[in-house]
Amino acid sequence: MGSLKTTIGKLEFTNPSILASGIMDETGLSMARVLDSGAGAVVSKSIGTKANLGHVNPCFLEVTSGYINSMGLPNPGIDAYKKEMEMAIIKGKVIGSIYGASAQEFVELAGKMEDFGACAIELNLSCPHAKGYGIEVGTDPKIVKDIVVAVKSSIKIPVWAKLTPNTHILSDIGRAVENGGGDAVVAINTLKAMVIEPEFAKPVLSNKIGGLSGNAIKPVGVRAVYDLRESISIPIIGTGGISNYRDALEYIMAGASAFQIGSAIFNDGPEIFRKICGGISKFMKRYGYDSIESMVGIAHE
Ligand code: SIN
Repeated sequence: MGSLKTTIGKLEFTNPSILASGIMDETGLSMARVLDSGAGAVVSKSIGTKANLGHVNPCFLEVTSGYINSMGLPNPGIDAYKKEMEMAIIKGKVIGSIYGASAQEFVELAGKMEDFGACAIELNLSCPHAKGYGIEVGTDPKIVKDIVVAVKSSIKIPVWAKLTPNTHILSDIGRAVENGGGDAVVAINTLKAMVIEPEFAKPVLSNKIGGLSGNAIKPVGVRAVYDLRESISIPIIGTGGISNYRDALEYIMAGASAFQIGSAIFNDGPEIFRKICGGISKFMKRYGYDSIESMVGIAHE
């Protein structure tokens, strides 16, 4: 039977399924549960330098084929998150997601995540609804490169950058990560979105704008990974709307060495990791693939 092992730079994962940042990752216990459910790794909640309450409700909506959130990066702050990291890493690999307004903030956060035991850092350069953060720093190739260079020179663990689809220069941003020495890119974060309640003639979310995730965005994510594969040589981790093994295979064949799952957990629970990996294994056996690597990017051939 084919192996589900995959490597991203110098990191080896038992399988390519990873928990995406923002779902079931506020506490060490919930991350541990996801690792126990078969995920190859988990990404933490995006953590900043100080505690942040996020946006007031309503900040989460279900829409056709997806969800819109405007959580506003709620988190307890890096120092309070230490115990959650320590609890989760007993069970497996944890990637520390961080957000900042400047290279200096990213450096401080990355250093602490490394000290807490993270196996890699995921730079959140893509949250579409937090003022001063996310896409406000992640859509300028120069700022992106400066952040990656600064973080890379301050820690030893690999640095991944999570990119936004809310730009027409995604490939330039990917190249900025690569030129800055980044070890991988993660694509995509949510798409900017809005819902209006006709009866009230107002946007429903308190923040008005949120980020769309779920099945609706999968073709956008697959296209983004495909484009990045043509533009950069560092590994790509695909994410956006994966809810079954076929979705995951689309990302792999577009060029992803691993994939992240987020919104689908609302319906299927953490058992989805084992289910999707089982589906990939059966597919590999049936179609004669002996490794994940042998399928990565084959849609380009
Ligand atoms: C959030 O917690 O606000 C969502 C994070 C993101 O969209 O990157």
